[in-house]
Amino acid sequence: MSILVTGGAGFIGSNFVLDWLAQSDELVINLDKLTYAGNLENLQSLDCDHRHVFVQGDIGDSELAANLLAKHQPRAVINFAAESHVDRSIHGPEDFIQTNIVGTFRLLEAVRAYWGDLQGEAKQAFRFLHVSTDEVYGSLGKEDPAFTETYRYEPNSPYSASKAASDHLVRAYHHTYGLPVLTTNCSNNYGPYHFPEKLIPLMIVNALAGKPLPVYGDGQQIRDWLYVKDHCSAIRRVLDAGRVGEVYNVGGWNEKPNLEIVHTVCALLDELSPRVDGKPYKEQITYVADRPGHDRRYAIDARKLESELAWKPAETFETGIRRTVQWYLENQAWVKNVTSGAYKQWVGKHYGDA
Ligand code: NAD
Ligand code: TYD
Repeated sequence: MSILVTGGAGFIGSNFVLDWLAQSDELVINLDKLTYAGNLENLQSLDCDHRHVFVQGDIGDSELAANLLAKHQPRAVINFAAESHVDRSIHGPEDFIQTNIVGTFRLLEAVRAYWGDLQGEAKQAFRFLHVSTDEVYGSLGKEDPAFTETYRYEPNSPYSASKAASDHLVRAYHHTYGLPVLTTNCSNNYGPYHFPEKLIPLMIVNALAGKPLPVYGDGQQIRDWLYVKDHCSAIRRVLDAGRVGEVYNVGGWNEKPNLEIVHTVCALLDELSPRVDGKPYKEQITYVADRPGHDRRYAIDARKLESELAWKPAETFETGIRRTVQWYLENQAWVKNVTSGAYKQWVGKHYGDA
């Protein structure tokens, strides 16, 4: 038995592959294009592990996807592959359209052909699990109830619009062709191997480097944070027991304003790796121009997943963020490798301080 994971060298995908193989001997075929966000160093502990088969390639390459499906006969496909950074989607949406929409469409076509040829139990048991985001639902007001699975789609950035389009395609392939799909819409993840273009790892890396900590606008935008390993356990649970065609929201009931997140990271660094001058890291906070079209608040109502599938996150925000800061302190070589080259160019272009 095997599963095909796409985007398994990225942040969540690599955590998922590592967790999967820590709990099961089922073969993982990992199809990843290795964009700037994909990093085989995340999977170094699997070097020489025959349960992990890495293939560099594009989910939009129909022939490659068809060949991998025919060769390995996976019982499930889990689609993590995507362009995932809102700020990059604002600077250049094209890659988001290509990978998140066209790529997902081509992958669905390859999977539909493969599944169509399966017989009996293999056909019954097959699943296509699409990993999506809460950002497809748009922005909430301060007092609005959290997003449920039936909340209207109202994406506001090129990133969230492209993910919304891919969710609709996945839905349509179930309703039109009967493809056995599952979709998860998760809130903001954090944890090990998070590329330091995103808020939490950027703040840790910049703080330690003595650089400014750029907070967009007033820093009062709210996100709902989930430790990445809890997202991985939710995906495994949905894959095992989710009802075909259903959508499951995944979240940690951890709504926090960005500024509070940055203060928490600074306080943990003050404790675990104090500045040589003894001053607090929060002195490095700088307020910068807001992100265009910046969504004010996301919040996930995860009750469906909790009540139907008895899933619960293992980490609180306090335990998860401490683990995360510790991980970055203990993995400075990883940080050094990912913050060279193309990363420097991105920081220079976006923040003007390369
Ligand atoms: P990431 O940017 O860290 O990783 C994406 C991975 O996909 C990289 O390894 C990249 O090389 C690969 N990839 C990109 N284009 C590809 C293509 N055309 N073909 C094959 N591989 C390709 O992203 P992430 O944060 O790990 O997110 C994974 C998935 O989870 C995405 O679909 C994202 O929308 C979703 N998601 C992320 C979050 C979050 O907080 N990070 C929250 C909810 C949902
Ligand atoms: P991010 O990690 O990019 O995730 P997303 O946009 O998908 O929610 O950003 C999280 C929040 O942090 C978001 O409100 C934007 C804000 N932010 C900053 O204030 N400064 C930064 O340098 C970055 C990268 C994000």
